Amino acid sequence: MSERTFSIIKPDATRRNLTGKINAVIEDAGLRIVAQRRIRMNEAQAKKFYEVHAARPFYGELVEFMMSEPVVVQVLEGEGAVAKYREVMGATNPADAAPGTIRKLYAESVGENSVHGSDSQENAALEIAQFFTETDIVG
Ligand code: CMP
Repeated sequence: MSERTFSIIKPDATRRNLTGKINAVIEDAGLRIVAQRRIRMNEAQAKKFYEVHAARPFYGELVEFMMSEPVVVQVLEGEGAVAKYREVMGATNPADAAPGTIRKLYAESVGENSVHGSDSQENAALEIAQFFTETDIVG
C-alpha cells in the first residue's frame, strides 16, 4: 500500500553538498519526494524531534549536531515507504550498512549518519506533522 515516511537530510550531508546525490538514491528506489524544505532547525525543534532519545548519553550532542548546519526535511511517498526508506538508508552505523545504501555511501559516523527516516507509520505521521501541513504535500 502507498504510504508516507518522513526523512531528514542531516547537517553532515548538506555541508558536503550531498542533497542531490541523496535525492537520486531515494528516487532511484522508487520513492517520490512529495514535500521538501531546507531549514535551520532551532533548539526547540531539535529537542522535540529527538525527545524519545532524551535519556541517552548522546542526546545533547545529537541536538547540537542537528542545529549546526541546515537540514532538508522531506516527505517521501510510495509502496511500503517506511520499510523501503529504512532499507535505502542502511543501518544507523555506516560501518554496518549494506553496499549501495545512503549511509554506506555517504555517512561519516553513527552520529553524523547523513539521513533520518521514520521507524513506523505512526511515528511518520507525527514527524511529518512537526514540519509540514497537509497543503505542503503534493503527491
Ligand atoms: P536517527 O535515525 O536520526 O535516530 C536517532 C539518532 O541518534 C541516530 O539517527 C543517530 O544520528 C544518533 N545516534 C544513535 N546512536 C548514537 C551514538 N552512539 N552516538 C551519537 N549519536 C547516535
